[in-house]
Amino acid sequence: MKIENTIQGVRAALKQARKAGKSIAFVPTMGNLHRGHIALVEEAKRRADFVVSSIFVNPTQFGANEDFASYPRTLDNDAALLAEADCDILFAPSAHEMYPDGKQQATTVSVSGITEFLCGASRPGHFTGVATVVTKLLNIIQPDMAIFGEKDYQQLAVIRRLAAELCIPTTIASMPTQRADDGLALSSRNGYLSAAEREKAPLIYQTLVQLQTAIISGQRDYPTLAQAAREHLSKCGFTPDYVEIRSADLAPAGKDQTDLVILVAAYLGKTRLIDNIAFSIQ
Ligand code: PAJ
Repeated sequence: MKIENTIQGVRAALKQARKAGKSIAFVPTMGNLHRGHIALVEEAKRRADFVVSSIFVNPTQFGANEDFASYPRTLDNDAALLAEADCDILFAPSAHEMYPDGKQQATTVSVSGITEFLCGASRPGHFTGVATVVTKLLNIIQPDMAIFGEKDYQQLAVIRRLAAELCIPTTIASMPTQRADDGLALSSRNGYLSAAEREKAPLIYQTLVQLQTAIISGQRDYPTLAQAAREHLSKCGFTPDYVEIRSADLAPAGKDQTDLVILVAAYLGKTRLIDNIAFSIQ
């Protein structure tokens, strides 16, 4: 596996792969890789001849009071995991390489309509940071395909929308959420949890499954169901940010909607965890 730290370097390496007629798949990450990230790389390997992954802790998607400074940076270990997964290039740029004029660059990408609620409401500017860096990365790599996790459901919707509307010629693909045996969605932020918090954390997924079961069994009063779930999480020691039942395209869910997604964000101590389940009913 080659490691490239500059835009020029990664472009030169990609030129060779392209000349050889190889299809290119791209997996962007912020590092501290776990099995969820590696599943994306393995899927990329199945779907393309040549795989590029990036590690960049993107400063523009963190709020002033968020964990940018403490976000785990484990580049050597990550590079070993990527090499083991047969990744061809790791692109690991510096902040200066990505934002040479500082992070307040004049051009940003903001996706309206699907970023004003859920995580967008509690993390102002977050999705503009994500959309801007993903657009930059897609322009740098110019892959045939880019693969994202369904764990970040709203992020995936934002990226699908920006790729379609900005005519980016990259197929956006996704992979199901990878979980620990007890159901907890794998996340770099799980490492912040104390042993006691880690034990409690699977309750988020259990709550999602209970809501899904209630809906499949015919309950349709979504606001009441969501409110009960919020109260349950609070009683169990979480500070819920939101529990919402929406249609799969993230519009508010009506009773006749058949494609649904339940989304949760909740703090456990200082750690903000998110999860979701998407499913269809008759
Ligand atoms: P990061 O949180 O590192 O996640 C990188 C990719 O891995 C995302 O597509 C995310 O959805 C996926 N992922 C994370 N946990 C997963 C899990 N348990 N199962 C399946 N996929 C999982 O998301 C970001 O980085 C950033 O916002 C980024 C898109 C790289 C832009 O900076």
